[in-house]
Amino acid sequence: MSASTVAAMAPALDVAKIRRDFPILDRPVYDRRLAFLDSAASAQKPRQVIDTIRQAMEEEYANVHRGAYWLSQRATDRFETARETVARFLNAPSSDEIVFTRNTTEAINLVAASWGRTFLKEGDEVVISEIEHHANIVPWHLLKREKGIVLRVAPVDEAGNFLLDRFEDLLNDRTRLVAITHVSNAIGTIVPVAEVIRAAHRRDVPVLVDGSQAAPHMRVDVQALDADFYVFTGHKVYGPTGIGVLYGRSELLESMPPYQGGGEMIQTVSYEESTFKEPPFRFEAGTPAIVEAIGLGTAIDYLQALGWENVQANEQMLLQYATERLREIPGLRIVGTARDKAAILSFVMDCAHPHDIGTILDRSGVAIRAGHHCAQPLMERFELPATARASFGIYNTRDDVDQLTEALLQVREIFG
Ligand code: ALA
Repeated sequence: MSASTVAAMAPALDVAKIRRDFPILDRPVYDRRLAFLDSAASAQKPRQVIDTIRQAMEEEYANVHRGAYWLSQRATDRFETARETVARFLNAPSSDEIVFTRNTTEAINLVAASWGRTFLKEGDEVVISEIEHHANIVPWHLLKREKGIVLRVAPVDEAGNFLLDRFEDLLNDRTRLVAITHVSNAIGTIVPVAEVIRAAHRRDVPVLVDGSQAAPHMRVDVQALDADFYVFTGHKVYGPTGIGVLYGRSELLESMPPYQGGGEMIQTVSYEESTFKEPPFRFEAGTPAIVEAIGLGTAIDYLQALGWENVQANEQMLLQYATERLREIPGLRIVGTARDKAAILSFVMDCAHPHDIGTILDRSGVAIRAGHHCAQPLMERFELPATARASFGIYNTRDDVDQLTEALLQVREIFG
């Protein structure tokens, strides 16, 4: 891509200003400028999130939903305001449909353990896809062991495109749930989840969408999608770790028994039995991640204020630029070239193992992920042990891509 084409694509996102909000981007690594290209694993945090967490702990911290005193009420207000922020972020009809979890993994396990154990029986089928993260495979394996459910796997083609027709072929009278990723963490494919949901709903099959890699990159509207469950995690949307989200349609959440038992999720407890609160509290046993939820609210406000069109334009420009630059490198092959792709770029080189690539890049200040990306079946499908993966966020620039390219040329030189 020519410099002028790239300049013409320059988005309305003030990346220089955004970078000033992320203190960690200023710290050198091995005396080199840090090019952080691993946001798909975990995104960095803006000062606004860090300050919110510190302020909440310094000035307004107490346990929530328990104390009659001012501090506890204040902390509760802020915690519940964060739930409302998440509901608006997903365009959920009500914040009662937002359950706070520890992360995406816990949100999917909650659905599998509560809804799955209640409503699935031997021979019932759950359809997933070839591009799932382990978090959307293993919980279903646990149910397979426990209940004898059957997993069906919708394929992708060689480029990583999701094959809608082949997916529809898997739906039948035994299908009870579709559990599908919105965006592949390993190769960036964007799944046409609206079509997937429409096809599943024609058969009255509910759909769980794993939005971990979509929520940082695009507007998510659970009502427009008509999703039944939608899950994502805080730390990938520039928020804290330890906080994730399960959106569930109210009829579904109301039909589900608790996932864990303990404090705060009950109405009454005697030695004989317990009765439970309505959702979402029924699913939030014990003291929740209070300041993490508040920090997530700030992260969402920060991200949304940038404007989705701007965020997407910047990331798509970077994806295109990086794809072109990486194609200059002899012996490098990009894994996953789907038509619809988020800013995640997986690749292999004929001269070096992905782990060696990652190590050399690290010494040049470039942070990428190398490995199977918690997607072993997908690696197997592409007959690869691992890939190297660069992933982009709101703070990345063409300088990061250039630094990555230079470091990859060094890999080429070192390994020949
Ligand atoms: N799921 C995260 C990743 O893709 C950790 O790297």
